[in-house]
This record gives sequence, structure tokens and C-alpha cells, in this order.
Amino acid sequence: MKNAYSSVAVRSVAIVVIAAILLLAAWRFYSPPLADDWNEEQLSLIRSLSLSQLPELPADPSNAVADNEAAANFGHRFFFDTRFSSNNAVACATCHVPELMFADGLELAAGVSVGPRHTPSLVGLSYSPWFYWDGRKDSQWSQALAPLEAGVEHDSDRVEISRLIASDENYVQLYEAVFGPFPDLDSLRLPQSASPLGNQSRQQAWSAMSPNSQKIITRIFSNIGKALAAYQRKIVPGPARFDEYVEQLENSSATRQADLLSDSEIAGLNLFIDQAQCISCHNGPLLTNHDFHNTGVLAISGQLPPMGRYDGIRTARNDPLNCLGEFSDASPSQCMELRFARDENDLVGAQKTPTLRNVSLSAPYMHGGQLQTLDDVMVHYNEAPTSMLNHNEAKPLGLRSNQLRQLRDFVLTLTAPLATEDKWLKPPTDETSN
Ligand code: HEC
Ligand code: HEC
Repeated sequence: MKNAYSSVAVRSVAIVVIAAILLLAAWRFYSPPLADDWNEEQLSLIRSLSLSQLPELPADPSNAVADNEAAANFGHRFFFDTRFSSNNAVACATCHVPELMFADGLELAAGVSVGPRHTPSLVGLSYSPWFYWDGRKDSQWSQALAPLEAGVEHDSDRVEISRLIASDENYVQLYEAVFGPFPDLDSLRLPQSASPLGNQSRQQAWSAMSPNSQKIITRIFSNIGKALAAYQRKIVPGPARFDEYVEQLENSSATRQADLLSDSEIAGLNLFIDQAQCISCHNGPLLTNHDFHNTGVLAISGQLPPMGRYDGIRTARNDPLNCLGEFSDASPSQCMELRFARDENDLVGAQKTPTLRNVSLSAPYMHGGQLQTLDDVMVHYNEAPTSMLNHNEAKPLGLRSNQLRQLRDFVLTLTAPLATEDKWLKPPTDETSN
């Protein structure tokens, strides 16, 4: 009896020991590299993604008030104001919602009507030399003017907007604090509504205006764009769990707290910088190279496949509101990006690489919101479908489904509250706008 009992005990101990050894072996085999296992090359790649490597905001020589606080106040008020739209219901903040990282959660943006593109996040955007998915604008101030005159967005125009500013004491005060005396519009005998863009009647009314009036109005309009850009320069990302992890790696002598990244997140990071080569386009502290690539995203339903950057650079060059135009504050020698931008055929179908900071909060994804979730995005990259125009620069990855989850888990570690003062994330109160 005793013998039988002890042999059962010995056997169960042996089973437990063998199971433990097997588990340990399996864990070693499947587990990602431990923090300490990163080699020098990997460490330097990981470091390059950290927010601590983010330089100061680059200057914008085309916008003399880019870093002017009073201009940001004006822009802040304007960004949340719905009165600058034909239905009095659309502001920049209608589509660029602060809580959604200044995106809107929709597939295609909805202003006065539904437009052809998905609303991108505005986080850290002031680091980018190009604006829009196809980069058809070369400054943030010039970009800001386009939605105001687009039929599907604000559906307003520069004359109406100038009049409205003139009629609002608060705006006139803010304007004059930055740009000097507000022009006397009454003496110009302006039409109700007019713009060189927009519908036929607006264009006709614009042609009937004197060149001098046109210039005065476009100057006011450009200044509004410059104030909107000054405001948007405040929208910058804050350090996420990933950045704390990198800091801890750097600081190897410090006692490690509980693991900042899970095994799955670390495995995802490893895939991101190595096998999956996401880092070839999503690089630097904002996880974007600010460049344009064809990644074989399906055309938006009901639309032809877009020409992307190939058309975008041509539009930017011909834009009277670009860096070289008369409303820019830059000298031609400061417009290097515009003057030397690539325009080759390989840009057909190329879209701007978006930041991945806080990307978990701005679904759906891609220029038409074609992909609903981050899991869908990972499946897209794994398959790398043939592009309808030109060719897909990303190659099929052949990853297993658990690896796709790891990639997603890593991307989720890039979410954190913005490093933007709270007052900029809400509509202004009268105290904050003065
Ligand atoms: C109807 C919704 C809507 C409104 C209103 C709107 N936007 Fe946008 N915004 C979009 C969409 C959609 C895009 C992308 C369009 C494209 O790339 O063709 C965009 C692009 C941008 C970009 C460029 C983003 C990038 O990644 O390059 C900036 C900056 C921006 N908007 C700022 C503004 C400002 C400032 C206003 C107010 C004057 C405004 N938007 C009004 C929907 C909107
Ligand atoms: C060849 C350059 C390139 C590579 C490689 C690449 N991306 Fe992208 N990524 C882009 C571009 C360009 C877009 C926007 C495409 C579009 O809208 O058509 C994008 C979009 C995304 C988006 C959606 C962001 C948003 O706001 O809509 C996510 C998420 C993403 N990529 C993650 C990844 C991951 C993860 C990898 C690696 C598996 C990867 N990317 C590899 C260039 C690239």
C-alpha cells in the first residue's frame, strides 16, 4: 500500500517536472527576444522611433505668424466656429474632432455633403512638408483655405468669410492684434459672395471684381489660413507606453519596473522593424517618412483608382497660394520642397504615409476609410494585393495570424494623450481667446 502510494507520488512529481521542462522549452522557443536581447542595430532602430527623438517643430517660412500666440488664438476660435459654412453647421472641428485625434470616425468625410476622402488625423502634422493624402498643398496655411471653399465641406467663399470677420468685433480685434488694421470692406463694394474657385456664379462675381479688391480679399483669406495653421501647430503627440519602454532600455542601470511592454507587443515591435519592414515607410518619432507610396489599397467604391501624388505635386506647383506665390511670406530660396519635389511616374497611385501615433483612435483607415480595423490593416499588408494603378510597393509578408496580432498589439502601444494644452482641445471660451 505504502509502496504503491509512493510510486504514484514519484510518478506525478516526474510528470510535473517534465511538463515544466516542456513548457519552459516552448516558452523559450516561441517567446520574443527579451528587452536585453536587442542587438545594437535593433536598439538604434527602436530608439529612432521614440518621441524623445522628435525635433522642435520645423519653422514655416511661408507663414510669418506660424508661432505667434495671438494668431493661434484667432485660429482656435475659427477652427470651432460653424458660421463659416453655407448651412451654419460645419466647422473644421466637425470633421477634425479633438477626441478622435482630429479625425471623425467616418469612412468618408461629411461636411455640407459627403466628400470623396477619409478625414486624416492632424496629430503632429505640422512636421509634414505636404498636406492632403495626395500632397496637393505645400503649407498648412494654404491647405486650411481649401475646405472653406469646397462645396462638400464648408461651401463658403473668401468674400463671405471676410465679411463675416468684419462684422464680428471679437474677430476683428484678434485679427488686428496679429496682422494690423483690418481693411475697410465697405469701400470695396464687394458682391455678396465670390471666389476664383467654387461654383459658376461665385467665379463670375470674382471676375467682375477689381484686381485690387481681389488682392485685399485674398490677403485676408490667406491670413485666416495662417492663423489656422498657427493653431494646428499646437496639436502634438504625447509620450506613449512605447516611449517609456525605450527610455527604460536606454536607462539600463535603473531598476526595471514591471514590464512596460508585453511579450506580444515586443514581438510586434520586432516584426515592425525587421521582418514586416513597416519601418521602411513608418519611421522616425511620428512613424511616418512624410513621403508618398502606393500600398495597393483598393479604390474607393464608386470612384476610379486615384492618381495620388502624381497629380498632387502638379496641383501644388500650379497653386497660386503655394510657397512661391504672392501670399507666401517665404523667399523663393526657402521653397526647396516645392521646387525640388519628385514628380516621376512611380508616384501614380501613391498616398501620403500617415502617422501611427494614436492610430488606434482614428479608425477607419486609409485614404478612403476602406479598412475598418487595425486587424484589417495587418491582413492587408500580409496579402499585399496587386495595385489597380502602377504597382504595390509593399510585398506580401507571409506572417501567421498570431504574428499579425502581435503587430497590431505593438501599434496599440503608440496611443497616449496629446502633449497639447487642454484649452486648445475645446472650443474657446472668451477668456482663452483674448
Ligand atoms: C467635411 C469634413 C472636413 C472639414 C469641414 C474640414 N476638413 Fe480637413 N480634411 C478633411 C478630409 C476628408 C481631408 C483629406 C482630403 C484629401 O486628402 O483629399 C482633410 C485634410 C486636412 C488636412 C491635411 C491632413 C494631412 O494629412 O495632410 C488638414 C491640415 C486639415 N484637413 C485641416 C482642416 C482645417 C483647418 C479645416 C477648417 C478650415 C478643415 N480641415 C475642415 C475633412 C474635413
Ligand atoms: C511602402 C510604404 C509602406 C509600408 C512598407 C507600410 N506602410 Fe502603412 N501606410 C503607408 C501608406 C502610404 C499608407 C496610406 C495608404 C492609403 O491611404 O492608401 C499607410 C497606412 C497605414 C495605416 C493606416 C493609418 C491611417 O491613419 O489610416 C496603418 C495602421 C499602417 N499603414 C500600418 C503599417 C504597418 C503595421 C506596416 C507593416 C506591416 C506598414 N504600415 C507598412 C505606407 C506604408
